[in-house]
Amino acid sequence: MNNLVHIDSQSPQPELIERAATVLRGGGLVAFPTETVYGLGALALNLKAIHKIFLAKERPDWDPLIVHVGDVAMARSLMNGVPPSFELLAHQFWPGPLTFVVDKADHVPGEVTAHRPTVALRMPWHPVAAALLKATGAPIAAPSANRFGRPSPTRAEHVLEDLANRVDLILDAGPTPMGVESTVLDLTQSPPVILRPGGVPREDLEKAIGEVPLASAVEGEIARAGLAGPGMSLKHYAPRARVELFDGDPNKTVIALKRRVEELKREGKTFYILANYGDQRLYAQTLFDQMRDADSRQADVILAIMPPGRGLGLAVRDRLLRAAGSPAAPAAQKTNHE
Ligand code: TXA
Ligand code: MG
Repeated sequence: MNNLVHIDSQSPQPELIERAATVLRGGGLVAFPTETVYGLGALALNLKAIHKIFLAKERPDWDPLIVHVGDVAMARSLMNGVPPSFELLAHQFWPGPLTFVVDKADHVPGEVTAHRPTVALRMPWHPVAAALLKATGAPIAAPSANRFGRPSPTRAEHVLEDLANRVDLILDAGPTPMGVESTVLDLTQSPPVILRPGGVPREDLEKAIGEVPLASAVEGEIARAGLAGPGMSLKHYAPRARVELFDGDPNKTVIALKRRVEELKREGKTFYILANYGDQRLYAQTLFDQMRDADSRQADVILAIMPPGRGLGLAVRDRLLRAAGSPAAPAAQKTNHE
């Protein structure tokens, strides 16, 4: 694949960064690593390039993009007014896996924000992403570099799997360090609301600004959707295998999982177990990779033990629930997406 180049994750080679910046300036697409997942980047103020992102991902036009910025000044230039806690939170958490939803400046194209009056902004710390932003000196729109509905890519190989010849250049810096996407925090509400739990834990935000509600708390969202038919928006981060969740008291959960394993064996089904119980960082880091691995091994079922909802565990729970498409029953139960 000659559109994939290896780049040093700590000290990215300047000539490779310049090559990527040139592709972006020409209106092309560059997949690049961030600390969370790989992004599919295009210059945020270039309409044709933005259009290419939606085509490549097969992303519906109602789903707005995150705009990546190189510094706080660039972020301010894209917003209309500065919400109260922005400075404090940006000072504390940027660069990092935290995305702010703020009122957009007039010159931010509606195509980027799915015609919402708000824009999502994030300053990543990954050295490759930071270098690329510095080289272009311009905001870069970058959703996760997967096809719509597939697990986010944590390795360049995943980008190839999903987007191969739809992207002009892939910067391969190895696996991304965090493995789950950024926390999306809506600063247009007071207090700010978490729209998507992610790399910055809720507890850390609450230490900084007090109580931070979880908006579409996925568990509540699914409860409202009902067991019969999970809503479309929940069918995100989905592997091809059916996902069954095991939640609750660890001892009971393990017993239920073992029972289910025996059942599947009797039925002649193949299964894949996700259970990095106790190490949430590792669970987060390997989650999407394991979902894809399960698919490539053509597992019929993924059996996943839900981590507690603390720290990165909240993001892992959210992604598992979305992958399953409905909730785990108390103690342990299975669910699926069809
Ligand atoms: O970690 C990340 O956030 C990665 C890396 C590449 O930075 N990006 C990422 O982008 O996950 P994407 O497009 O896959 O997810 C962006 C999320 C979507 O759930 C989208 O609906 C939400 O952010 N979002 C974007 N703009 C928004 C807005 N104006 N209001 C509310 N939600 C918004
Ligand atoms: Mg995504």
